[in-house]
Amino acid sequence: MSDWVLVARLDTLEVNTPVSADLDDERIMLARIDDQVVALEDLCTHDGAEISSGCIVDGTIECPRHGARFCLKSGEVMAPPAYEGIHVFPVDIRNGEVWVRDDRWD
Ligand code: FES
Repeated sequence: MSDWVLVARLDTLEVNTPVSADLDDERIMLARIDDQVVALEDLCTHDGAEISSGCIVDGTIECPRHGARFCLKSGEVMAPPAYEGIHVFPVDIRNGEVWVRDDRWD
């Protein structure tokens, strides 16, 4: 099982503004939704765009390249042209710090 990694301070994340962060050697996307933070792979399954450059729309992240949308909580596809979902990582907020764990190979 992988370790939790400190990826950001909560007070540096603006609400509804996606950013990229490092999770070990991976790029991930972070988004603060009120006092919750979601963390997804920063890679659109349609053609590899960085979704952290996209916009948050109605609980989804919209890919900046062709407009696919992914649910921020489940990673599932909500609008084409993507058909495969994006992995969502577990997030833990501790004393104002955002910790993420890569659970893909647990
Ligand atoms: S690369 Fe994301 S929709 Fe095409």
